[in-house]
Amino acid sequence: MSMNKEQWGSRVGLVFAMAGNAVGLGNFLRFPVQAIQNGGGSFIIPYLVSFLLMGIPLLLVEWSIGRFGGSFGHHATPFQLHRLNKRTIWKYIGVFGLFTNIAVAAYYCYLESWTITYVFHSVARTFQHMGSDEIANFFDSYVNLESNTVPILVWLLCLVLNTYILSKGLDGGVEKVAKIGMPLLILFGIFLAIKAFLIKGGEEGAINDGSVGMNFLWTPDFSSIWSAKVWLAAAGQIFFTLSLGMGSIHCYASYVSKNDDVALNGMSAGWMNEFVEVVLGSAILIPISVGYLGVDKVIELTKFGGLGLGFKTLPFLFEQWGPIMASFAGVFWFGLLFFAGITSSLAMGTPVMGFFMEEFNWKRRSSAWFFGLLIFVFGLPTVLFYKYGVFDEFDYWAGTVALVVFALFEIILFAWVFGMDKGWEEIKRGADIKLPGIFKFVIKYVTPIFLGVVFIGSLPGIWDKIINKDIYTKLSATNDPQLIHELNKTLMFVNGSRLLLVLLYAGICVVVYKAYRKNYVK
Ligand code: PHE
Repeated sequence: MSMNKEQWGSRVGLVFAMAGNAVGLGNFLRFPVQAIQNGGGSFIIPYLVSFLLMGIPLLLVEWSIGRFGGSFGHHATPFQLHRLNKRTIWKYIGVFGLFTNIAVAAYYCYLESWTITYVFHSVARTFQHMGSDEIANFFDSYVNLESNTVPILVWLLCLVLNTYILSKGLDGGVEKVAKIGMPLLILFGIFLAIKAFLIKGGEEGAINDGSVGMNFLWTPDFSSIWSAKVWLAAAGQIFFTLSLGMGSIHCYASYVSKNDDVALNGMSAGWMNEFVEVVLGSAILIPISVGYLGVDKVIELTKFGGLGLGFKTLPFLFEQWGPIMASFAGVFWFGLLFFAGITSSLAMGTPVMGFFMEEFNWKRRSSAWFFGLLIFVFGLPTVLFYKYGVFDEFDYWAGTVALVVFALFEIILFAWVFGMDKGWEEIKRGADIKLPGIFKFVIKYVTPIFLGVVFIGSLPGIWDKIINKDIYTKLSATNDPQLIHELNKTLMFVNGSRLLLVLLYAGICVVVYKAYRKNYVK
């Protein structure tokens, strides 16, 4: 095994990179849509509770595992977990930390590439004379690859860009992009939020003031506080947005030296993400769309997946502000999404690269291009067969279920197998803030129980997915041969995606086994 001596350029750079890792499409697209789908004000309470009881504790745990593993030269979770406990199982649980990054990056980069296209069309004024239906159709035909190969080409461009930046290393690539991208993103976000705040019902085609959407989100509503569905959605969002249960935080933290702080760094990056999510993430999409369409219409639009809202409706609503403002708003919105996306997809690449560099002595450049190749191979089905649900399948299994499963295992390992006394020392070593002792208790008992309950609560839903309940329900309700044909095709692609994911996991297990034989068995 080779010691890979890379380090962050500076503390500011580290915090920006970590924030860039966490701040992603999840903050601006996923969060508002989850909030709307789960009743606005009734979503916020479970969301905040999940942040405090799962988000913060898990951040501390993942930063500590990362730094601990890093002190032995491990930048990916298989051997980081192995350092916490030598039993065979943990290495293979650690496989999640490579698997999830590859599988999520596979579809995430595609989504990221849409933002490039939409920046272009905002400048080119493509949407100027289109009606709302036309703009929505534009998106549908784009993702369904109906008219041309542009979506594939832009996706490839996006892959090459990611790979190129990764090949420049941490301080030369990732950190630089974060230092430029994050401030720009915040600037763009503030601009759009102010514009949204100033929307007046009755002017420029708006039917509501900007505040109506905000009130919908921020008026606490206790009616569904006991709904399992709302709690699961809230917990899932906390995981996704903080990049927890993925292995990418472990990797970034593994480049921090052994006695450097993790407590304050972890907290700062986490709170910064929440600021961007709760303040900016909720102040753009919701108030603008509610301002122009009303609460009911927006709820209806998010019934069938939420991505549409950002790509289908906003470009139309921006046009109501006149051509110049519409161009700026479009560039700012999709530019913001682009920076949010790329600083996150870079984070997904680093553990994979770190793994090959340290275990197989690969050069940084070859590891970066190999990651690019993996994303190409696993991303291709999500691009080509988007309409058959491959993208959603990846998002569900890798971007949702896997996070919770991995987090549950890692917190048990950290708090119960490695032991909370040692764990607490790890968290506190070099800390630049004094953490209240209550966290020790929370990490040992509250978070695992909370996570366990969330996981058990989600089992019925997972089971329905496994047996493809939705698709079979639709199948049994129709006689239309065309629809039956399409649904059967969807079934095939959905099952195929799962097979692919299982193969990916198994393949990584084999590679980890090889690395183990090569580097750890004398
Ligand atoms: N947290 C990112 C988001 O909100 C997603 C992400 C997941 C990034 C995992 C890195 C690793 O979009």
